[in-house]
Amino acid sequence: MPFTIKMNGNAHSVDVDGDTPLLWVLRDVLGMTGTKFGCGVALCGACTVHVDGVATRSCITPVDSIGTSQITTIEAIGATSVGAKIQRAWLDREVVQCGYCQSGQIMSASALLATNAHPTDSDIDAAMSGNICRCGTYVRVRAAIKAASK
Ligand code: FES
Ligand code: FES
Repeated sequence: MPFTIKMNGNAHSVDVDGDTPLLWVLRDVLGMTGTKFGCGVALCGACTVHVDGVATRSCITPVDSIGTSQITTIEAIGATSVGAKIQRAWLDREVVQCGYCQSGQIMSASALLATNAHPTDSDIDAAMSGNICRCGTYVRVRAAIKAASK
């Protein structure tokens, strides 16, 4: 079934079943492989993208639920002012280890800062609690979010 997906500022036509998870449309149809598959059941955060600015688990989001919403992926987050600040802070604080979870971490962090410019530690914990990092970068993630909020 044909759908038009608004992603990263452009409209894309895709022909997939309506219950196809957005993650697979992004990765397999549109080639946006920066968004990662981890658990597939909304438990790890690796697949996080923005849907109208809201951090969303693309692995459990059927493509037919998107409608006219704007999707932003890790490939375009640096074009937003908040996303650019987050990416700069990530580099300055050397957050990344293996990197697998980091797209999702950055997408959740940038969604947080877009709505809360000066988050407290508990705000950060609440916003980031669904993003799992098996390399244990949590302390540096928090420090980078704090740095980006200054
Ligand atoms: S792959 Fe979506 S939350 Fe884990
Ligand atoms: S940096 Fe390796 S899983 Fe997070």
